[in-house]
Amino acid sequence: MTTLPRTSAGERAAALAPQLTAWRRHLHQHPELGFAEHETSAYIAAELSRLPHLSVTRPTATSVLAVLQGGKPGQTVLLRADIDALPILEENSFEFVSSVPGVMHACGHDGHTSILLGVARLLSEDPSQVNGQIRMIFQHAEESGPGGAEELVHGTELMSGVDVVTGLHLNSQLPTGVVAVKPGAFMAAPDVFRVTIQGKGGHAAHPEETVDPIVIGAQVITNLQQVVSRGVSALDNMVLSVTYFHAGTTHNVIPGSAELMGTVRTFDAELRSKAPGMLERVVRGITEAHGATYTFAYEPGYRPVVNTDWVAERLMGIARAEVGDKAQLATPSMGGEDFSAYLTRAPGAYFNVGSGNAELESDYPHHHPRFTIDEASLVTGVRMLYAAALELGKGE
Ligand code: NI
Repeated sequence: MTTLPRTSAGERAAALAPQLTAWRRHLHQHPELGFAEHETSAYIAAELSRLPHLSVTRPTATSVLAVLQGGKPGQTVLLRADIDALPILEENSFEFVSSVPGVMHACGHDGHTSILLGVARLLSEDPSQVNGQIRMIFQHAEESGPGGAEELVHGTELMSGVDVVTGLHLNSQLPTGVVAVKPGAFMAAPDVFRVTIQGKGGHAAHPEETVDPIVIGAQVITNLQQVVSRGVSALDNMVLSVTYFHAGTTHNVIPGSAELMGTVRTFDAELRSKAPGMLERVVRGITEAHGATYTFAYEPGYRPVVNTDWVAERLMGIARAEVGDKAQLATPSMGGEDFSAYLTRAPGAYFNVGSGNAELESDYPHHHPRFTIDEASLVTGVRMLYAAALELGKGE
């Protein structure tokens, strides 16, 4: 166990540990899906209302905003935590497991919420030491498209006057205590495609009288694998996965149509814009070759999270001060995040805090029915986000 640098953020965060755990366990036990976080947001608002010096409002039905005006001049800093859970049946057996069958905090958003409550608590203890204005948004619906961030950014005044934004995601694949930051491309744009292949159904004994959408679909899937491997430079990043292939009802009928669905993930805007054309060309060519027709739909998901260099560098400096040699350069992820919506309106950076600990079995992947966090990561999250609020409030 390494000794962490002694900072005021570190000591004050450590003292909050029992409260952070209590908040997190309550939230874990009472998960709610995106756009339905009614009890969650009421709980957050009630906890914030106990703290002095905060103005607490509800920008949308299930989000909560706490604003703290610092005693010194400075920047307007937005800190973001997401609060929603996932449609997963929890398989953990600790005493605070989900009390809602089929709904679970399997991504760590219970931890994010607890961390931001902790930061609100520390900031509210002495606003005279705070520069500028700190806005803390407890955002709904990160897991449910079109995403709560989009609604907050475009449908409310949240972003008006914001100079810089930051937030964190716990990461079970990094050891507890690690803080990982990266300038530039950090998380991908998760776009979705849907294809229907229209053939001609008939008797399985007479395929010559049909246009078999299953055989054509299988070829479409195989050929889509070449879009990335043969069509994209090895130095660029793109992932294409077909995740759904549905056709037919029984063994002796060739169905009339087949449906495919999947995702394309990119960081680069130009490559992203080329992807639909590259996919559709394959679908068109294969279906035409075999006498079928098709429909093709391409739905853009969240924008990629591309961190502003100077903000990421400031956060890296803060991480070195707070966690010493546990500060590291983050590896980009092909996962998506609606944190990107805030970055369309202000510079900012999103970063990771490790919550993985094999001894506590908190290293299951995110979205796994046994996902959980090492609660020691909550203290690291608070010390990072609290120190970031104080530092970023001072300006560039
Ligand atoms: Ni998440």
